[in-house]
Amino acid sequence: MNLSKFEDKLPIIKNLKPKEKLDGVPYYKIRMQQFKQKLHRDLPETTVWGFEGKYPGPIIEVRRNEWIKVKWINDLPEKHLLPVDTTIHGAEPNKPRVRTVIHLHGGVVRPESDGYPDAWFTKGYKIVGPYFTRKIYDYPNRQRGTTLWYHAHAIGITRLNVYAGLAGPYIIRDPLEKYLNLPEGQYEMPLLIQDRSFNDDGSLYYPTGPQPPVPNVCPSIVPDFFGDTILVNGKVWPYLEVEPRKYRFRIINGSNSRFYRIRLSSGQPFYQIGNDGGLLETPIIAKQILLAPAERADVIIDFSNFRGHNIIITNDAPSPYPRGNPVDSTNEGQIMQFRVSLLLSQYDFSTIPYRLSSIMPLFEKDARLTRNLTLVRETDKYGRAFLLLDGKRWDDPITIKPLLGSIEVWSLINLANSTHPIHIHLVNFQILDRQPFDVEHYKKTKKILTTGTAVLPELNERGWKDTVRANPGEITRIIMKFTPYVGLYPWHCHILEHEDHEMMRPFEIVNQTFDYFQRIN
Ligand code: C2O
Ligand code: CU
Ligand code: CU
Repeated sequence: MNLSKFEDKLPIIKNLKPKEKLDGVPYYKIRMQQFKQKLHRDLPETTVWGFEGKYPGPIIEVRRNEWIKVKWINDLPEKHLLPVDTTIHGAEPNKPRVRTVIHLHGGVVRPESDGYPDAWFTKGYKIVGPYFTRKIYDYPNRQRGTTLWYHAHAIGITRLNVYAGLAGPYIIRDPLEKYLNLPEGQYEMPLLIQDRSFNDDGSLYYPTGPQPPVPNVCPSIVPDFFGDTILVNGKVWPYLEVEPRKYRFRIINGSNSRFYRIRLSSGQPFYQIGNDGGLLETPIIAKQILLAPAERADVIIDFSNFRGHNIIITNDAPSPYPRGNPVDSTNEGQIMQFRVSLLLSQYDFSTIPYRLSSIMPLFEKDARLTRNLTLVRETDKYGRAFLLLDGKRWDDPITIKPLLGSIEVWSLINLANSTHPIHIHLVNFQILDRQPFDVEHYKKTKKILTTGTAVLPELNERGWKDTVRANPGEITRIIMKFTPYVGLYPWHCHILEHEDHEMMRPFEIVNQTFDYFQRIN
């Protein structure tokens, strides 16, 4: 498909207004549906999935500490939009019902409201998954102001449900932020970037096996997916008319597998003010920003010196990252265009303050323990390749049980050959460092032989994170405090094809007392 670029306006995603209250708090009922939507001027309408009739889903915006309740309603058809793989988890070959559960990515919520992968449900709210769930989710929003996103998360089918369209932005706004005088109102918006491929009839294309086929791999397993068309807020290569002033964009990489290393064709920098976990301490002036799937960048772009110019956000991250195919600059190498007008409609009083927030560091000396966790590719007896965390599969017994309130260091030892964006539910963490090591030596001896010095995280990673890039041949160390809830949560690679093919594990936060009895028995 050869679609011309910058033909359609960037959709401005609307905020969803709650229509009711429940227990005194705003109550949203959000329906997942199938419908047709125009994704490009020259493309026939595409059948997609979305929320409340929209792909991507509407913005849910709350104030920090404002409690809300959400009922996610599965109103999807019986038949999946995309080829369903029946050889993996949760699939019932005779009953290919559409299973979903929605997770608030980065949200600090109880396990019952987290959208646990096994807590899926089908149409009519039949909870078929083998795990507890609530019909109505509680989102207390007692956390730093930031850009989160909600998306589908059912076991074994996340890549297809998200690809079909089940994702949307969620903003927690800290009322104190207004004193920073950042660009706001019509000058602030999320940009949700996703790659897709299309058939000539406008329908979504998703492969039924690896393309090109990989020898010895079961044909149903898609190891990763890279679309040749880039969409922002649900439009193919859109443009946005901007005034010659500052704008704030909350950029979300909502793609299945694709990394983006974004730049502005004008050569001007981004002022990055925030990442996954909210505002950084000070803005970072960056000519390029790398975003793995699920990572977010809160940036200010100042168009004031570019009156009358057209500026493109470009991408040059290879796929898979970092040693994959180079980008095709005529396709996935371009993301969207800004058309800067000549005139301002009002004077730009917004600022980029030097001091944005304060971030309390977590200290290694306070950690109760360090866990060494490998990221590894293995082949099963049928010759199918799987990616594993800690050498285990999703259904293997739980091995990680952090104590409530304790601090732990996790050393992510990447023995595979590409970067895996590792995401942990419930907690935000800080990145300690990354250090190269001898992979072959580790595979033979299970001992770490470092081959270089530990490097501090990038400047734009020195804040609170919920997703971290673990590079091949490196040990990435993160530190976090397991609070405020006990219970079961997943951690996983956010390349959705990897997550669906075993690169996800549960962990259970346990109580001190409970753990004490365990030990004396
Ligand atoms: Cu964004 Cu467990 O997911
Ligand atoms: Cu998450
Ligand atoms: Cu991965």
